Amino acid sequence: MRTLVIGGGGREHALAWKLKQSPQVTEVFVAPGNAGLDTLGSVVPIHHADIVEMADFAENVHVDLTVVGPELPLTLGIADEFHRRGLRIFGPTQAAAELEGSKVFAKRFLESEGIPTADFKVVSSHEKATAVADSGELGWPLVVKADGLAAGKGVIIAADREEAEAAFQVMFEEKSFGSASDQVVLERCLTGTEVSFHVLTDGEAFFPLASSQDYKRVGEGATGPNTGGMGTVSPSPLLSKELQQRILKEIVVPTLKGMKGQGRPYQGVLYIGLMITDEGPQVIEYNCRFGDPETQVLLPRLDGDLFELLNAVIDGKLSQVHPRWHHQAAVCVVMASEGYPGKPTTGRTIEGLDAAAQVPGVTVFHAATKSEDDVVKTTGGRVLGVTALSPNLPAARDHALEAVNAISFEGAHWRRDIGQDVIDFLEKS
Ligand code: AMP
Ligand code: GLY
Repeated sequence: MRTLVIGGGGREHALAWKLKQSPQVTEVFVAPGNAGLDTLGSVVPIHHADIVEMADFAENVHVDLTVVGPELPLTLGIADEFHRRGLRIFGPTQAAAELEGSKVFAKRFLESEGIPTADFKVVSSHEKATAVADSGELGWPLVVKADGLAAGKGVIIAADREEAEAAFQVMFEEKSFGSASDQVVLERCLTGTEVSFHVLTDGEAFFPLASSQDYKRVGEGATGPNTGGMGTVSPSPLLSKELQQRILKEIVVPTLKGMKGQGRPYQGVLYIGLMITDEGPQVIEYNCRFGDPETQVLLPRLDGDLFELLNAVIDGKLSQVHPRWHHQAAVCVVMASEGYPGKPTTGRTIEGLDAAAQVPGVTVFHAATKSEDDVVKTTGGRVLGVTALSPNLPAARDHALEAVNAISFEGAHWRRDIGQDVIDFLEKS
């Protein structure tokens, strides 16, 4: 069977790596790939936003299953384009992907379905935003979110009036996010522990993926600006069995039911960002795709055939498959470029990849890399996701860091405390 993986980051490397392990998969195409993905499959030089070209390719080379990594093609309707042509694709339709594509849609949906989320107001002018901020009705700090996709940069947590004004300036006057901030969501800032919750669903049946946790801030001890994620662990013991049941009952079930009721049945993977507050779990955001770097810790723990699992979703047969998880723990440490999460320095030579791969249980997932005359170079902010699967979390963390220490490129930075809070929690309990 031929598969096509769309996207060129660490998440896509993990997806292609796991798909390749399926005895049914004979060939993997990667679009557009990176230095790691290129070793697994044939590179297809099509940008992920070019959905018609992508469908032409899948049709011409008879791809049996296409798996979409990033959100943009989904919100542009790649699944609809493939469905129209009778091509098999894993990912929600454009109407369902609006859960991620529009924060205004998502918040109104949450409100109408009675799903716990932060109080909010939608505003479409600087003046109205200032009025809501001044009223103090949503408290401080105030969360300011551009409605549309903004490459992970559209959320600003404003500590006070001055920072809120600066955020409104960026969104309404400078228009840094273009039309994505024609509408802006203002919301109450939630406090608690943030967890990532993934469910696979065929629209009816659903299957929660293993628990995981993302480390968003760039610096150790959760300091500095937000990033796309500097590392992940799975499982997350912070997500107890009872809490998982509560999330399924209060959030997952009403979400899937609500989407179906609105004529937008959701099929694919739904990644829900949650804040575990004193009042219980609340939705921070929906994502219509796998998390990155959550996927890098989830898939090594999956004890089963990913190709089979994704096909079961497409065929509406998820209730017939019973995947399991390895008991081992996984830790992914992201190695990032100098300057990230601001403008990263690129073109640096990466060394030590072979030595890192020799560390027990380690897989190095490539994100922003390319091969040039047998030399691997950096091409962006998050460069590598160094992942270890070990019998327990402390061992996985140690192995991941050992592998990180074997790798070098100028200006590289990473967090040495990925999983530390979880290890502390386990030691205390
Ligand atoms: P989002 O793009 O919606 O995931 O937001 C990015 C990050 O901002 C989240 O992962 C949270 O860390 C933070 N965030 C977003 N909304 C809230 C909120 N209402 N309260 C606290 N933190 C938030
Ligand atoms: N890990 C954050 C994301 O995938 O959006």
